[in-house]
Formats: sequence, structure tokens, C-alpha cells
Amino acid sequence: MYNNNNNNINNNINNNIKGIKKILTGIKPTGTPHLGNYLGAIAPALQYIHDHDGHDNQNQEVESYYFIADYHALTTIHDPKILHNYILEVAATWVAFGLDVNKTVFFRQSDIPQVMELSWILGCFSSKGLMNRAHAYKALLDQNTCNEDDPDAGINMGVYTYPVLMAADILLFDSDLVPVGQDQIQHIEIARDIAKAFNSRYGKDGVDILKMPNGIVRKEVAVLPGLDGRKMSKSYNNTIPLFLPSDKLRKLIMKIKTDSSGPTEPKNPDDSLIFTIYSEFASEEQKNQMKQRFLNGIAWGQAKQELFELMDNFLKNPREKFNYLMSNPDEIEKLLKRGKELALISAQKTLNRVRKTIGIN
Ligand code: TRP
Repeated sequence: MYNNNNNNINNNINNNIKGIKKILTGIKPTGTPHLGNYLGAIAPALQYIHDHDGHDNQNQEVESYYFIADYHALTTIHDPKILHNYILEVAATWVAFGLDVNKTVFFRQSDIPQVMELSWILGCFSSKGLMNRAHAYKALLDQNTCNEDDPDAGINMGVYTYPVLMAADILLFDSDLVPVGQDQIQHIEIARDIAKAFNSRYGKDGVDILKMPNGIVRKEVAVLPGLDGRKMSKSYNNTIPLFLPSDKLRKLIMKIKTDSSGPTEPKNPDDSLIFTIYSEFASEEQKNQMKQRFLNGIAWGQAKQELFELMDNFLKNPREKFNYLMSNPDEIEKLLKRGKELALISAQKTLNRVRKTIGIN
């Protein structure tokens, strides 16, 4: 399986570093995709692909890798039916919003066994102290301490070594740029630390074995508040799922928390979740008009109804496509097949290089 074709290691790396620019990001299937996921991650990523479409602004060739990080989800989701369904939902969502599987390498992490092998190798270059400092792990530890529990209660090794697996995802594909949410930046820093430890042991004459990735934070959208005004998050149960049937979507929008100002009183658009969401889907002109109507006074019910109509119209086609794919999971498998084949080739190349480097091949 590990045909270590006699490529000179340095040549290989030089090709990778000078060659195509690679953009990679992973999506963890831990919930039914909601509006916050769409505005915060899916829309900016699709826009990015659209803007670059094979080339960046210096006309360098760009390859984008988008994958479903299903093994990362296993750290928390231990119900097989639920996990399986989330994986399908995430895949169907991206395709429903227009991800072109012929222009990107769209795959599932678990289809690429090389990730697991690299993850072990990288683990041997990751200091335990680095893992101790990872935010997600530390938060659980703090929570246990607060509850006067055993500090390690309920923390599995998957949670603890999560950053190593993520480093493997990133480094396996010689990624240059990794667009993520703000909360993932520390994980990219950890991936860089691990790559650095590896390179400083094995790199020769200033040539790295593992390419240093750079994180880019998606700044475009601030944290979207949920129905109750707190951050929109599955754990607060305050999300607006993307593919609800029309009538349910309308009901949820009507539930958005508002103040008690009367129907003709002026309202501050910048203070209103309704206006925030409206702006994301509206044209510039619609947005300005709605702003004026807020300032002049609009009834909350009316504003909500118009938000619903705008969103429902926007979501109509993606919803149809999503529902079609969810009732035809074989179609989803077909879409993931091309990505799997391409990702396997890249992954094996890197892994051959790494295995040769460490003296195992
Ligand atoms: N940890 C990321 C998140 O929770 C998902 C992820 C897994 C990822 N592997 C990755 C993101 C590699 C970017 C690159 O959002």
C-alpha cells in the first residue's frame, strides 16, 4: 500500500511548496446545520471559492479542500444513527447551497485512513503540555473543577488529542490557508507548533518536510445571536435550522425576541436581530429601505413577516435540493466519491514522504 516511489524527498516538497496553493477547511458534523453555520461558515466559504475559482489574485493556481470532520464529531456524538444523519445533512447542505464538487475536493475525513496514521505520527511530536493548554479541553477541566468533580471526569482521549487529529487534517494536504472561525485559531497555532517540532527534527538545509499552514479568520460575520439573544448555538437550543418547512420557519421567526416598543415607535435597526438577519439576505436597496422603516417605526410582526418572506424565498431552492439529497443518500455518496479519490492521492503522497523521513517505510 505504501509504495514509496523513489521520489527524492526534497524535490517533492519543493514541488508542493512552490506549486498549487491549497485551501482547506473541515466542518464538524455535530448538529443540523443552522442559520449561524450558513452565515458564519458556508456562505463565506462558497464566496471564497467563487471569487478565486481556480486562481487567486496573483493568478496562482488554487485548490480547495472541504471535508466533513466526522472523526472529530465522534469525540462527542456516540449515537450511530444521529452521527450518520449529521454527516449526510452537512454534506447535503453544502451541495444544496451550491458547492461544486467538480471544482473542489469535497470529501469525508473517515474515507482517508492516512489521516489516522499521520495523527499518530504527529502525536509523537506533540508535547502533552501543548494539549493541556487547548481551550476546549481546558474549558471542560474548569467546569469539572467548578462542580468539584474529578478534573478529568467525562473527558475522553479524543477530546484531549483533538488538536493532533486536526493538525493531521491540515498537514496531510500541505495546506497553505485554513479559513476557520475565531474559536479554531488556537488549533491552527497548535498545528503550526507540531509542524515546527517535526521540521526542526527532520528538515534539511532550510527545507521543511511539513508545510506551515496559515489560519484565516472569517471576520465577515459577527457572532449571530440566537432566538433568545444569546449566541446562536445548538447547545442553547436557540437556532434557526436552515431547512425547516416554510410554516415552521415562519413560526420560529415569529419567536425572535424583541423589545416592547409599540408598532409605530421608531426602532434601532442596529440593535435588532431581525434587521441583522434581514441584511444578510437583502439587496443593498432592500436593506436601506428596511432601515428607514425601522427608524420611522415598523411593527415587529410586520418586520418578522418580511424577514420570513425574504428568507423563505432565498431558501426555497436549497431546501428542495437538500430534501432531495436526504431522501437519496446514494446521491450524496456519489458526490463524495470524486473527492475521496483525489484526496487519497494527495494524502498518500504526503504520508509516503513523512514515513520515509521518520525511517518507517
Ligand atoms: N475543529 C473544527 C471545528 O470545530 C473542524 C475541523 C476539523 C477543521 N479538522 C479541521 C477545520 C481542519 C479546519 C481544518 O470547526
